[in-house]
Amino acid sequence: MEERKPLIAGNWKMNLDIGDAVNLVRSIGASLAAGGTDREVLIAPPFTSLQAVKEAIGDSRIFLAGQNMHWEMKGAYTGEISGRMLQQVGCTHVILGHSERRTLFRETSNMVDLKVKSAVLLGLIPIVCIGESLEERESDRTFAVLEDQLNASLQNFRADELMPGSTILAYEPIWAIGTGKTATPEQAQEVHAFIREWIEKTFGQVPAREVRILYGGSVKPSNIEELMSMPDIDGVLVGGASLKADQFIPIIHYGT
Ligand code: 13P
Repeated sequence: MEERKPLIAGNWKMNLDIGDAVNLVRSIGASLAAGGTDREVLIAPPFTSLQAVKEAIGDSRIFLAGQNMHWEMKGAYTGEISGRMLQQVGCTHVILGHSERRTLFRETSNMVDLKVKSAVLLGLIPIVCIGESLEERESDRTFAVLEDQLNASLQNFRADELMPGSTILAYEPIWAIGTGKTATPEQAQEVHAFIREWIEKTFGQVPAREVRILYGGSVKPSNIEELMSMPDIDGVLVGGASLKADQFIPIIHYGT
């Protein structure tokens, strides 16, 4: 991969019923068919909508992702979904280690690491989320926290000394999620550059060039263009604004 293709991803979290999910994906598909953008578009609906959304995607170029998975292939894990199950309903990607999983459901970086390993074994592309809290930022610990999260969430890659170039990272400062407070493009760029340097020093130049790093946290039509103008921001992971066609579609088609 010579150039990192922009990726616009929507994380629907625990929102939209099946009918609304299908309507939204149809609108997104129609907008892609109408306007010649070659950006990659991805959505991560709740598990219960995946099948219907996959059918509604049809031939449109929309990638489907799970919002989480378990690292085991099957077994007595009540309430969990395996990577293979996600693939069976058409997912090519999976979001792992979202801060809501880490903080509300006590998911640790070690668990994220097991999930990343399992996803890659299956051929699912992981979107691995990291991000600092407001308190960590204000006490000047942002880079140390992110480095710890990267080291621990990608332990298996480090043991193999290999990071697949298809891996996607998402930098989501917790203080910017759902708060309306976006990191400034310069703040985000500074962190993205730090993450890319970490990839280079840990895995070498090729993955540092290939891995896409998304920004997430209050992305909206009014700030997408500035964020995407930064050299190390390769895409966005959008929460609230991905739930409405009149916001997500302008985000996908930013600058056109
Ligand atoms: P918001 O866009 O609602 O801030 O959410 C960001 C996010 O958590 C995406 O994964």
